[in-house]
Amino acid sequence: MKLWGGRFTQRADEIMEQFNTSLPIDYRLYHEDIQGSLAHVEMLATCNIITAEERHQLKSGLQTILQDIETGTLEIKGEYEDVHSFVEMQLTERIGETGKKLHTARSRNDQVAVDMRLHAKNKALEVAKGLEMLMTSLSTKGAENNVIMPGYTHLQRAQVVTFGHHLGAYVEMFKRDNKRITNAIEVMDENPLGCGALAGTTHDIDRTITTAILGFAKPVNNFLDGVSDRDYLLELMADFSIIMMHLSRLSEELILWSSQEFKFITMADAYSTGSSIMPQKKNPDAAELIRGKTGRVYGSLFALLTTLKGLPLTYNKDMQEDKEQFFDALDTVLDCMEIMSKMIDTLTVNADHMKAAIQAGFLNATEVADYLVSKGTAFRDAHEIVGKLIIYCEQEKKAIEELTLSELKRFSSQLTDDIYDYIDYETIITKGNKKLMLENS
Ligand code: ARG
Repeated sequence: MKLWGGRFTQRADEIMEQFNTSLPIDYRLYHEDIQGSLAHVEMLATCNIITAEERHQLKSGLQTILQDIETGTLEIKGEYEDVHSFVEMQLTERIGETGKKLHTARSRNDQVAVDMRLHAKNKALEVAKGLEMLMTSLSTKGAENNVIMPGYTHLQRAQVVTFGHHLGAYVEMFKRDNKRITNAIEVMDENPLGCGALAGTTHDIDRTITTAILGFAKPVNNFLDGVSDRDYLLELMADFSIIMMHLSRLSEELILWSSQEFKFITMADAYSTGSSIMPQKKNPDAAELIRGKTGRVYGSLFALLTTLKGLPLTYNKDMQEDKEQFFDALDTVLDCMEIMSKMIDTLTVNADHMKAAIQAGFLNATEVADYLVSKGTAFRDAHEIVGKLIIYCEQEKKAIEELTLSELKRFSSQLTDDIYDYIDYETIITKGNKKLMLENS
């Protein structure tokens, strides 16, 4: 069933019908499609292009279709080209001849453009909510477990930090992701309805009316651009890719931390799986899947970039491919944020193992050098002295703070009794935190 056919004498091949249809993908746009049509009808009536009676018939017909879809009485399926054809044909079936007036002064090109913008705007807000949830989980878990842990560079124990500060780094990343999403919403907030197929319309329409009803900031400036632009999807998908990259780094850390080698955290059973052969195993599958699905979201971004790159203005059917990529990237990022948030909420922190890793790692070596600098030694010399001290500690199998003062003095006469407090891990953390608080205030 098609919205066109006047100039055709032959039926489309069945395989062509299947190849061409986007209904199994774009059925998701039904709400925005009907919302857009309702606004369009209101505009047509206000501009005296249809009568008040026609407005009433069209609107109540559209509203019943929406209701029937939402209550499950009307299933979106059948041999339709797309969701736009489905809704329009349903309408004509229900209200008769007046239904055929719905598409006055409109093309499917501006129709699909407005549907996608509305959908992308709504979904971007959902993504922002997902980020908020994630940030709450991370901040809460960090505050409840602000215990001392090793910080790493090159995955080698480097300096002492706290678990709260480590998770706080991800909060900052997701905060920036949230800003990017908010900015993308602002950039895309323009109404393409009224651009027609590509060149506007000779009907005396008023685009400000649909703009106000649909809640856009303004109508688009250029008709050709209005029906061709899919940048806003690319921008969101780039933002989703960055979110996934951040989630993937966090997943990698959760996987490492929950390993037998680290034992810093224990993941809840609810987000782990077992092995079919090794009874002792508990695998961090949820984190691994998030890490794995990151590639899929990057892939969607690149697929759409590639689809769009050689297209002449304006609409080309290639652009129908935008939906599958966008929906898949969107579903993936929404699911991954939710799972990550729940995984964070339910993991337990093994503070003892974190502390043990610090003691074995000379994580206060930098502070010994800083101490020497405070006593007048040049930093380069202090670095050298502490290097020698570490070799000694390794030979003796002792931590720096376990050495006696006379042992310490062999390396520098400037090392006196107050060194023990200076390089105490709690002191280091407290000093660092105070400094951070001052800088942030
Ligand atoms: N299903 C189409 C899409 O998603 C709708 C627009 C069709 N326009 C056209 N001129 N064939 O792109």
